[in-house]
Amino acid sequence: MPLYDRLADTDPAVADLLRSELDRQQHTLILIASENYASPAVLAAQGSIFCNKYAEGYPAKRYYNGCANMDGVEQLAIDRAKALFGCEHVNVQPHAGAQANTAVYQALLQPGDGILSLKLDHGGHLTHGMPLNVSGQMYHITHYGVGRESGRIDMDEVRRLALEVKPRLILFGASAYPRWYEVEAFRAVADEVGALLMADMAHVMGLIAGGSHPDPVPLCDIVTFTTHKTMRGPRGGMILCREEYAKDIDRAVFPGQQGGPFMHSIAAKAVMLAEAVTPQFRAYAQAVVDNAAALAEVLSARGYRLTSGGTDNHLMLVDLTDKGITGRDAAAALEAAGICVNKNVIPFDERSPFVTSGIRVGTPSITTRGFGREECARVGGLIADVLGDLESEGVKARVRAAVAELCAAHPLYADLLED
Ligand SMILES: Cc1ncc(COP(=O)(O)O)c(C=O)c1O
Repeated sequence: MPLYDRLADTDPAVADLLRSELDRQQHTLILIASENYASPAVLAAQGSIFCNKYAEGYPAKRYYNGCANMDGVEQLAIDRAKALFGCEHVNVQPHAGAQANTAVYQALLQPGDGILSLKLDHGGHLTHGMPLNVSGQMYHITHYGVGRESGRIDMDEVRRLALEVKPRLILFGASAYPRWYEVEAFRAVADEVGALLMADMAHVMGLIAGGSHPDPVPLCDIVTFTTHKTMRGPRGGMILCREEYAKDIDRAVFPGQQGGPFMHSIAAKAVMLAEAVTPQFRAYAQAVVDNAAALAEVLSARGYRLTSGGTDNHLMLVDLTDKGITGRDAAAALEAAGICVNKNVIPFDERSPFVTSGIRVGTPSITTRGFGREECARVGGLIADVLGDLESEGVKARVRAAVAELCAAHPLYADLLED
């Protein structure tokens, strides 16, 4: 009996929600920059009996018996990650990006040590020192920002602040930053003040793996990332580091932060890494970037200001301030038209994070379903149509029809629930 039929027999409520979510993912345009569609092979590993096993510890050093296959799959993931990213040490156990970052801080810092990182409302992440996050409560946080005009990280400010506060750790990486990072300049500042350099590449690691984004691994002491965004794997995190930090990092992940590793996720991470070395994945990464450029070009041409004037990566931030509409209302109207984005503060936003003056738009998911530059230019036009008249039901109906046509031309997960 197919697996999903058994689910429907046992729990029709969850099975209904699953079918409904499949329908949403198949028939709407997902432009949330941090999301993607994992492959059926990744889903198979993630939804497997690996979830039944406790494997506290690391390969060949477990606290439980019966771990031979766990050792096999975790070592496979480690070896593949080392080969792909060219790093000295890998920890594949973090349950998510937040756990990866927190483990790094625990491994390398003492409470009260300084971290210099990007402001949350300029695109940073809450694990980079938000007051409600453990990072903001345990460490002394100083933030740099982007320039008001340039929209880019101001390396002069980074250096000035680093010289002033002498942080133990300098951190770059973001959730909503559309440009490449000046890795060499960050390394130079870190060396000048004797700080460790950490890159949180959660958003762009798939682009790095695919060769479509500069690689920070050789210049950084630590690189963390999530596996479910552009990497197109299961939900999870990973840490890459130099050998000298390996022991401390491993100890911080387990037993410092976590108990038993999610072996089903680690199996799916191994599958993700096998996929990431293929020529198809390299082509995918480049297409994500090309598609974002095509979409950005249309939005700009239609009069929408993009922070920093455009994008180098998979996402863009659309500033709606001069249109007199909020990010919240824009995202709601787009969702009603079959296009899913998220509201997002823009740098120097005067509105709250619940309202915002911007939206964040990203191309990883639509590129996975096979959209090229032409389709992405069309998507840009549809977004501009909806934003041009948020109240119009006629526009939304027309856009919904165009979305249906685009989705039908690029089907996804066609036989996922039947086997
Ligand atoms: C830059 C950055 N770091 C860390 C994370 C945290 O990842 P997770 O949600 O898996 O904890 C995110 C998630 O959006 C992120 O964008």
